[in-house]
Amino acid sequence: MDASTGSEPKFKTKTSAGAEPALMELFLDSLRDIYWAENHLVKTLPKMIKSATSPKLASTIEQHLEQTVEHVSRLVVIFDLLGVDAIAKKCDAMEGLSKEGEGIIESTDEGTATRDVGIILASQKVEHYEIATYGGLVQLASTLNLTDVAEILAKTLEEEKLADQLLTEVAENDVNYKASEEA
Ligand SMILES: [Fe+2]
Repeated sequence: MDASTGSEPKFKTKTSAGAEPALMELFLDSLRDIYWAENHLVKTLPKMIKSATSPKLASTIEQHLEQTVEHVSRLVVIFDLLGVDAIAKKCDAMEGLSKEGEGIIESTDEGTATRDVGIILASQKVEHYEIATYGGLVQLASTLNLTDVAEILAKTLEEEKLADQLLTEVAENDVNYKASEEA
């Protein structure tokens, strides 16, 4: 640090010399957005687990709930690395996706594979939103030369992709054929 300025660096992790402050602001805003979204999921996933009929589906979402708690913790670590407070900013997209999931539960009968198919559909929309978000954040972190932050985000991105794959497998192997029998 240039001692003559007398000021502390804004971020503990080094940013590239030419990095736009506006880009860093955008990055932080996106982190606050996904931080809200992950916290929201911690609250809403238990309802999905409770509503699922297939034990395999329930355990798959249960497993992802545990991961989601970890994703929240990782974001806290990232805010800490960046030297900023962990502040959540309401994510309208995730709120909408959650409402859609609740709507599916309300409009399907308890104990049916059809409801399970709906839960999988809603859950995969959530996963795809998260994959898109974390994919973008990894890129942005790399652009800003925040290597350690990018690595943490990439770990979460891989888990979101895996969760999406597992949901596809549950749909193909455990749920969809039963739902077609109900039709
Ligand atoms: Fe997540």
